[in-house]
Amino acid sequence: MTDDVLSVHGGSPLHGEITVRGAKNLVPKAMVAALLGHEPSTLRNVPDISDVSIATGLLELHGVSVRPGAARGEVVLDPSKVEQANVTDVDTHAGASRIPILLCGPLLHRLGRAFIPDLGGCRIGDRPIDFHLGVLREFGAHVEKRPEGLYLEAPERLRGTKISLPYPSVGTTEQVLLTSVLAEGVTELRNAAIEPEIVDLIAVLQKMGAIITVQSDRVIRITGVDRLGGYVHQALPDRLETASWACAALATGGDVYVRGARQIDMMTFLNVFRRVGGAFEVHDGEGIRFWHPGGSLNAIPLETDVHPGFQTDWQQPLVVALTQASGLSIVHETVYENRLGFTEALVAMGATIQLYRECLGGTPCRFGQRNFRHSAVISGPAKLQAAKLVIPDLRGGFSYLIAALAAQGTSTVHGIDLIYRGYEDFLSKLAALGALVEQ
Ligand code: EPU
Repeated sequence: MTDDVLSVHGGSPLHGEITVRGAKNLVPKAMVAALLGHEPSTLRNVPDISDVSIATGLLELHGVSVRPGAARGEVVLDPSKVEQANVTDVDTHAGASRIPILLCGPLLHRLGRAFIPDLGGCRIGDRPIDFHLGVLREFGAHVEKRPEGLYLEAPERLRGTKISLPYPSVGTTEQVLLTSVLAEGVTELRNAAIEPEIVDLIAVLQKMGAIITVQSDRVIRITGVDRLGGYVHQALPDRLETASWACAALATGGDVYVRGARQIDMMTFLNVFRRVGGAFEVHDGEGIRFWHPGGSLNAIPLETDVHPGFQTDWQQPLVVALTQASGLSIVHETVYENRLGFTEALVAMGATIQLYRECLGGTPCRFGQRNFRHSAVISGPAKLQAAKLVIPDLRGGFSYLIAALAAQGTSTVHGIDLIYRGYEDFLSKLAALGALVEQ
């Protein structure tokens, strides 16, 4: 058996305690923000995941020194040599992640030009970058798309502008923030994403000297400044990893204490967890305990949405738990057109799940008139049986682990390397919870 395969002996509940660290969807962006400063920055609570290694590699390539700080999980980023960097093998980062696109604004400010190789990220839909390119052009950047990647130039200092996004995209909102803070004049961003990770990135930028106002109507106003310094920041805890372990506790009938989890970023998830029949207990400043209180779980209707709605990344792990609920659950995925494909493997394990092209559950979404199977009806409870599982994407991959842990028999899960993109040391955490797994 190769290292990328895990044998999972299912059928026993997870019990115990694990710790979550800084959010995968904040940390690489906060690292990129350091490129905007003229002094070193210190980021704390950095998880050891491959998305952080990718961000580290990219920043080092552009002349930022990235080294461990005094404490575990602390990283010190020094951007003082960016102007002297000789960027030769940026191609080695092609296709690895979607982080490189966020280097555009900072590099244009510092160097007046940028090359961004072809992008990767999870295959959960088309994942275009049209919004990103549109906003960069609005700031005055020249963008040329070639097969090997994007060539960008800023002949003059980028200028603040008025932007209204067609959809509250997380990445594009980050793009605007990282570009506008050093642009000349005021930028007004309408229909912005306001995920907790974005608010944390704004906190990072404010520490560096940026002036950013967030209104309650998805409008963000940024007043450009001439110079930014460094920051010292503790990354917010990973609410997506937390929810994954919570769903693992529920699906296996277990009891998991997630040290480091924070209630305020997870209120929508916690409401749904309770409606399904899960129990939780918040320990302020310490963590959250999640458990299955016994009895049967409840089927629910669920729609994913941008924050403060139910986060799309919570959907896949929760669907596994919903296979154990009594009755019909309806899940409408409105953020990605192709994030339900992973359910095919659950069906092979014995779950009853049907996918539909229609928007089930009431609210029509962007995918309703198109040919995407983005709604699911799950009929439970199902007795899951072990299977051979091939991981399709990050969250789908963790969900397969949950399914294998909840199933009878021994499953083989192939492609576990993908899980390291977003879950630090997950094999040790599984062991700490009593999971019977072998590599
Ligand atoms: N979109 C466009 N054009 C664009 C950009 C986005 O059409 O130029 C569409 C996307 O195709 C998608 C929707 O807008 O349908 C939302 O995409 P968004 O830009 O919000 O997502 P992202 O920035 O690419 C981040 C996270 C995702 C998370 C989403 C939504 C990172 C590195 N990734 O992606 O995380 O699902 O926001 O919250 O921060 C994960 O952690 O597993 C993951 C996929």
